[in-house]
Amino acid sequence: MCGIFAYLNYLTPKSRLEVLDLLVTGLKRLEYRGYDSTGVAIDSPDSKNIVMVKRTGKVKVLEDAILEHFSGGEYSEPVMTHIGIAHTRWATHGVPCERNSHPHRSDEGNGFVVVHNGIITNYNDVKTFLAKRGYEFESDTDTEVFAKLVHHLWKTHPTYSFRELVEQAILQVEGAFAIAVKSKHFPGECVASRRSSPLLVGIKTKTRLATDHIPILYGKDIRPHGQTRELPVLPRSDSTSEFMPLEEKEVEYFFASDASAVIEHTNRVIYLEDDDVAAVRDGTLSIHRLKKSLDDPHAREITTLKMEIQQIMKGNYDYFMQKEIFEQPDSVVNTMRGRVRFDGNAIVLGGIKDYIPEIKRCRRLMLIGCGTSYHSAVATRQLLEELTELPVMVELASDFLDRNTPIFRDDVCFFISQSGETADTLMALRYCKQRGALIVGITNTVGSSICRESHCGVHINAGPEIGVASTKAYTSQFISLVMFALVMSEDRLSLQQRRLEILQALSNLADQIREVLKLDSKVQELAKDLYQHKSLLIMGRGYNFATCLEGALKVKELTYMHSEGIMAGELKHGPLALVDGSMPVLMIVLRDPVYVKCMNALQQVTSRKGCPVIICEEGDEETKAFSSRHLEIPRTVDCLQGILTVIPMQLLSYHIAVLRGCDVDCPRNLAKSVTVE
Ligand code: AGP
Repeated sequence: MCGIFAYLNYLTPKSRLEVLDLLVTGLKRLEYRGYDSTGVAIDSPDSKNIVMVKRTGKVKVLEDAILEHFSGGEYSEPVMTHIGIAHTRWATHGVPCERNSHPHRSDEGNGFVVVHNGIITNYNDVKTFLAKRGYEFESDTDTEVFAKLVHHLWKTHPTYSFRELVEQAILQVEGAFAIAVKSKHFPGECVASRRSSPLLVGIKTKTRLATDHIPILYGKDIRPHGQTRELPVLPRSDSTSEFMPLEEKEVEYFFASDASAVIEHTNRVIYLEDDDVAAVRDGTLSIHRLKKSLDDPHAREITTLKMEIQQIMKGNYDYFMQKEIFEQPDSVVNTMRGRVRFDGNAIVLGGIKDYIPEIKRCRRLMLIGCGTSYHSAVATRQLLEELTELPVMVELASDFLDRNTPIFRDDVCFFISQSGETADTLMALRYCKQRGALIVGITNTVGSSICRESHCGVHINAGPEIGVASTKAYTSQFISLVMFALVMSEDRLSLQQRRLEILQALSNLADQIREVLKLDSKVQELAKDLYQHKSLLIMGRGYNFATCLEGALKVKELTYMHSEGIMAGELKHGPLALVDGSMPVLMIVLRDPVYVKCMNALQQVTSRKGCPVIICEEGDEETKAFSSRHLEIPRTVDCLQGILTVIPMQLLSYHIAVLRGCDVDCPRNLAKSVTVE
């Protein structure tokens, strides 16, 4: 999805070229989110105007254009205070092209320029309102109306501060958004806000900050709304006109869609909440709320990021996805670290422990997510049913919302999301919360919306996942849910043997993942056999059905090949018709309670001249005899097999993507964090 990066230096001299370099680097860190065009805006050398450069395609294209455009010596002169804004756009309204790229401007004089993530749903109403007042639009985007609306408010309310103008504009728009605004009428100032789309402020000072909190400011309605009454929607503003400072003399601020864009500059950030308006004037940051609500805290906390810059760099790997696949022996350990005591067979999930009695009394567990996160729910459902002895429903967030699914106060709803920002999952969370259910977040992103809006939860601690295709987050989500099942069964005597078996298997998991990763070159050879085919069927059942779904998703998103995850039990009910000597098939056949049934499916495939690639257990000669192509994985407990079987699928999709020349880390049309419904 789109990415915002803005940079403001106050009394810290930087040339415009340095600012541009910072902006471009910030955009590079956001590339993984997925985008199709880019743009920046900075002050002109005389500081009287704003100059913008926009390009379709990658950040590199923008970088080259910047080098060409800003070659004059005047751009090398240091300036004490400056604000630059930048954006990666993932097209929603209008095709990817320079005209539709951000920043968008208010008028030909570039009075106000805006970068925006999300969708302004009532943009047509606002556009009609502005068109009647003579505004002409130059793009197909929803964002442009925001820039022009701020301009209209500025003309009609000349005494308003920059922040007040942006606040008034925000009050008129509906939908989900994060915005950052720059203006030539308010030099050195930046105003940013969010609603259902992430935005944080990074703060860099020479000395340690004087405070860990920024007070939230409210006030009475401060001005008559005057002509804005003509606008389609006009709630009253509760905001104050005063600035309460985070007063630091020399300071740099970074506004970004996520922490990976700021971590190389500062680890001190404030995660903005919905309807916060963050404004910087005279080097002073203040945070205002549009509306006051009873449960609002008095201040926004400055958080210290634990992330390291190395975590968001590729290191010796060619792609982030490759790095993330190979990180799994460590990431699964990090998920369990401090939670699983292998010596005492005890598990503590600090984020939910106080809620366990309530969860045990619930009517049912609901696991809700999208894509890979949904698959982690499919993968662990059977174990959850076994160890919690509760009904477990697994839901795709989008479908769950479409159905207006009945939710009860005694339901416990898990929202699984790597990013913690997926719009469908977040909407489903709010839907369940309104109906009184207990909300448990399973996320990888500290400070994300799902994380903040949950009653309790588990951070999967997989570390930053940059590749659009989810890999290590999946295995860590999987383990988090397994740990939850173990916690729920702690006092069930009849389940102790089973728990011990699983705990034992968890303790061996990292080494076994290392073993599976050694298959890499064998998988690469296999990829050479498969990459020119049009389709790949992946079959399995029981604990490995989720691997089939997840494997097929990986193949689709990375290689653009058709791929289907097929429940082997369904073979005779249709998919068997696809099987012949030329259709590539991959089958997971492990020594577990469904082994005989899987063998049955294998025989059906081979008797139709199918020559499947078999994922089987090490040394299982009987199964291997059915095909010349196999990948052997170490034996583990049935409910954890899915972690070991998914890794060959991750590697296979990765190698096929490389062989087909696909963009491994940023597959076409996809975004890392899907913040629109
Ligand atoms: C996974 O490879 C995909 N990129 C996608 O399915 C992803 O899992 C889905 O969009 C949900 O994202 P989330 O986990 O951040 O909510």
